[in-house]
Amino acid sequence: MSNRRGQTDSGDSIAGRAPCPIEAYLERLHRKHAAEIGGEVATYIPELAKANPEWFGICIATTDGKIYEVGDTRQSFTIQSISKPFVYGLALEDVGRDAVLAKIGVEPTGEAFNSISLAPNTGRPLNPMINAGAIAAASQVAGHSPGDRFHRILSVFSLYAGRQLELDAAVYESESETGHRNRAIGHMLRNFDIVTGPPEVPLDLYFRQCSISVDCRDLSLMAATLANGGVNPLTGERAVRHQLVESVLSVMTTCGMYDYAGEWLYWVGLPAKSGVAGGVLAVLPGQLGIGVFSPPLDARGNSVRGLAVCKDLSRDFNLHFLRVPRSARSAVRAEYTLTAVSSKRRRTERERALLDALGERVRIYDLQGDLVFAVIEAVVRRIVDASPLLRYAILDLQRVTDVDDSAVAILADLLLGFGAYGRGILFVDSGNHPRFLRRLEERLAAAQCHERLRAFRDRDAALEWCENHLLAQTELEPRPTNSIALADHGLCRGLSAESVAALESLLVHETFSAGELIIRRGDAADRMYLLVSGEVSVIVQLQTGRLVRLSTLSPGMAFGELAVIDRGRRTADVRADGKVGCYALSVEVFDRLDETHPAIKMRLLQNLLGNVSQMLTRLNQEVTTLAM
Ligand code: DON
Repeated sequence: MSNRRGQTDSGDSIAGRAPCPIEAYLERLHRKHAAEIGGEVATYIPELAKANPEWFGICIATTDGKIYEVGDTRQSFTIQSISKPFVYGLALEDVGRDAVLAKIGVEPTGEAFNSISLAPNTGRPLNPMINAGAIAAASQVAGHSPGDRFHRILSVFSLYAGRQLELDAAVYESESETGHRNRAIGHMLRNFDIVTGPPEVPLDLYFRQCSISVDCRDLSLMAATLANGGVNPLTGERAVRHQLVESVLSVMTTCGMYDYAGEWLYWVGLPAKSGVAGGVLAVLPGQLGIGVFSPPLDARGNSVRGLAVCKDLSRDFNLHFLRVPRSARSAVRAEYTLTAVSSKRRRTERERALLDALGERVRIYDLQGDLVFAVIEAVVRRIVDASPLLRYAILDLQRVTDVDDSAVAILADLLLGFGAYGRGILFVDSGNHPRFLRRLEERLAAAQCHERLRAFRDRDAALEWCENHLLAQTELEPRPTNSIALADHGLCRGLSAESVAALESLLVHETFSAGELIIRRGDAADRMYLLVSGEVSVIVQLQTGRLVRLSTLSPGMAFGELAVIDRGRRTADVRADGKVGCYALSVEVFDRLDETHPAIKMRLLQNLLGNVSQMLTRLNQEVTTLAM
């Protein structure tokens, strides 16, 4: 989408790029409202009267840093009252919630922005979005001097906008010269000790904050920074503490649009703030920020085109933040048991049979999205309902985008409750939720049960842990020894002792030390291996560099067998997990078996095919389960 500078924000050359429906929609929206002629440019601050009523820009910034813009999105104007929520956040940051609430309320006035709405006895401004509250908030910004305080405001605003902002001196002068009503408000606040020093100091700071020059793109990024929990989506820099964002958005929701707040919430439903220079900023928490700029204002001092654009956006994209989220039902992406999906450790037939019988005792919950209360409640209810049969529940957090603090408490109690019955809850997290796991550990440690926290980097490891513990708990038979004779190898099933001896004479016994690479991906496949002692793992490296285990094999199993079938190149690395002994069967020897020992070859092939069909059966079952 070309803005006045004819290039997309991401600098893509337009040629050959598929039309983006969002961009096309915003173009249509801009065309629709550009025709709007209602409203008057503000004149009570003379410098503002110079604005061109045709200026009109719309910008949307997502919390992952994508920016859509149309129209005059790079036209500078002064931020005016849109500065108020950001300075309120700064006051909360600098003096703390209690000190701010002592001076400024959070109640909507239902009156105009410049109403002298002070609480009768205390003189406390009703909220920080009206001028009185904004001046009080400015007086609480930290700094050793007025210049220092303004510098603090400017640098924090620049963090929100993701670029260095400047003061519009002409507007500042103009406002300062004509700000008599605000001065009256300032003196009222001084009269009630809401501001304690000469009121001119916070007043001047207020005039300066209102005169900071921004453009529509800046507004959308400032809004997206709030939507992103205080972190600028483009720069990754934090502009305000996560915990304070909800307080800022709360007063924007109830008071941001003054005596239009009720209708705004009803029709648009986004925390927002408008300014008399024609800016409107709106926030959809967790998703995006909107910036609209158009100087003509309605009687309440809100941009006419700004309101109309936000109404259409909210209606057309269902942006109302009170819209019932459907997330609770869709957070469990998949749920299955160890019967359907197993670890990549290849099991002996005896172990396989045991695990197939015990598999229902382990349930895996593949979660996705934000784990907020409604979501975690639904997940915990499913686990508790299944618990009579359960020994272990695995919660896979790899597709989870955020874990709400409420989930920590609930999951900690679930873990403690489960543990009391010898059951366990395991977490799979590839490093995306360190804060959640740390807080969970803290809660368990507080209950002297920190050892109950089991977290794994990948699901495979968690599945294997459960399998090993289920097998160990059955203790029906001791685990098979870690070395076998060739005659007991799975590929030798059905071969006579003579045949095994004949085969052994053709094989080459090889040993490998722990960590040694036995097969390298891409090498020519010239032999297969019959594993008789120790364990090996089959590993591939993904394009991301992450190593993934495809399987772990133990004595009695074979690897590299594709060599004798397709004579191609190795498709994965095979590494010795410990000291390993195996018999190598070269493709030359295998081929010669046609003449020398056709019966042995037939038996080997039958056993090989038997293995392949078992693997395929399991794989089909797992793919079916995971595709659900
Ligand atoms: O104090 C004033 O009057 C201006 N600096 C700001 C007012 C304003 O932006 C009201 N918003 N709609």
